[in-house]
Amino acid sequence: MSKSLFIQTIGCQMNVYDSERMAAALRANGYTAALAPEEADLVIVNTCSVRAKSEQKAFSFLGRLEAAKRRRPGMLVGMAGCVAQQEGARLLGRAPYVDLVIGTRAVERLVAMVRRAEAGERPVVDLDLAVPAGDAPEPVSAPARDGGPVFRFITVMRGCDNFCAYCVVPHVRGREASRLPEAIVAEVRAAVAAGTREITLLGQNVNSYGVKEGLPSFAELLARVNAVEDLARIRFTTSHPKDLTPELMGAFGRLEKLCPHIHLPVQSGSDRILGRMNRRYTCAHYLDIVSKLRDSCPQIAVTTDMIVGFPGETRADFEATLDLMRQVQFDSLFAFIYSDRPQAPSTLLPDKVPFAEKRERLQELLRLQEAITRRKNALLIGTVQEVMAEGMSKRQATRGGNGSVPQWTGRTPANKVVNFSAADGSGGAGDIRPGRLVPVRIERVLAHSLRGAQVGGPAPVRPEREADHAA
Ligand code: SAH
Ligand code: SF4
Ligand code: F3S
Repeated sequence: MSKSLFIQTIGCQMNVYDSERMAAALRANGYTAALAPEEADLVIVNTCSVRAKSEQKAFSFLGRLEAAKRRRPGMLVGMAGCVAQQEGARLLGRAPYVDLVIGTRAVERLVAMVRRAEAGERPVVDLDLAVPAGDAPEPVSAPARDGGPVFRFITVMRGCDNFCAYCVVPHVRGREASRLPEAIVAEVRAAVAAGTREITLLGQNVNSYGVKEGLPSFAELLARVNAVEDLARIRFTTSHPKDLTPELMGAFGRLEKLCPHIHLPVQSGSDRILGRMNRRYTCAHYLDIVSKLRDSCPQIAVTTDMIVGFPGETRADFEATLDLMRQVQFDSLFAFIYSDRPQAPSTLLPDKVPFAEKRERLQELLRLQEAITRRKNALLIGTVQEVMAEGMSKRQATRGGNGSVPQWTGRTPANKVVNFSAADGSGGAGDIRPGRLVPVRIERVLAHSLRGAQVGGPAPVRPEREADHAA
């Protein structure tokens, strides 16, 4: 009889990719999908430890499983990902009902681990971070049927060697190791054959792809992926500003499938704080690369990550961050309250910023960014953007059947979310389906998305109003 599997994924796209690989490997070994964790024979929580909050999420999900496991002792519970790697065997003291501790590099060995647990071995723990020779994870087996996912993440390198002072990733993901370009391109081809239209190449710092191993550069890898027929769009994340090469900057103007969007985390606008963070670049360098990127690709969207309240951050340092934001005019950003992590050296730094102060700085930063985002997005009103359809918009899905015009959702090349109506007003019966590129005229700007209509579609229902911005 087949067994059922439920995987809960917390954290970044790396975890999404690893969860897909775990699911594919277990599917190939007789596991089928369970609808709810409480009913599954095997539950895996794929965890993130980048901030204290993400770690808490993992433990609260595990807590839910404890009762289920008491009712059904035969159920296997596995913890994978960065908290598993960080906590290791300590986990078993905190959550003794965990049967498998699957370290971040143990994903390839998962099936054997599950077999051992099924045979009665408890607990099964694999925290080995060593990279085997010729390391190249097996491609995710592409589903044999049509209609595989339109969007896919593909990891091109694992680990991180940068050791930013606040960050747990190098400690839980191990040293940088790049996959062979042939393996990556083969995986892209398999995904495209199964229906994928957009690929996001993943690494903590794709700019150092292949450097250690003497492989072709990341820009060269992008060119090879760009040549895959029937693939429509390529994105990648993340780039470390200190390693962005002129060759990679030039790729934006040159490769037609590469979307004009770069996520380039800056973290702070104060050189003093950047130094304490061990980021190894200055604001002047950052501004210089942004201007070069805009020279080589004028329509490029630039997004970033910011940390507020790093130890020792003064009001003046924080204001320098706001100044940098005004200068760069990011399209959007993710901002985080600094969080002490067990293995990160910044945890030992003096001059911690009080939580209330950190929260206030975060609010102030977000208010400024909202105004910038809105101003930049307003420039798009009246333009026609090529939007890749993803599906019906959430609003539409929950309000269905109320007589309003059905709304699709998708993203522009610059990665902005657009909700739009189909030309025939059907929202689905026309020629739109997930993965199609649809020309959409932008009509309105809301706080976190744009509104528009497929070109050739019905006239705007309402004119643009200031009140809509506050939605
Ligand atoms: N490799 C990526 C980032 C991965 S972590 C890069 O270098 O850009 C994603 C983001 O989480 C980081 O960019 C940073 O802004 C944030 N982050 C990491 N550690 C953090 C911590 N201890 N507290 C708050 N935010 C943190
Ligand atoms: Fe963390 Fe820095 Fe590595 Fe990014 S580059 S994963 S922030 S250590
Ligand atoms: Fe989190 Fe690990 Fe990703 S710490 S952000 S899941 S690499």
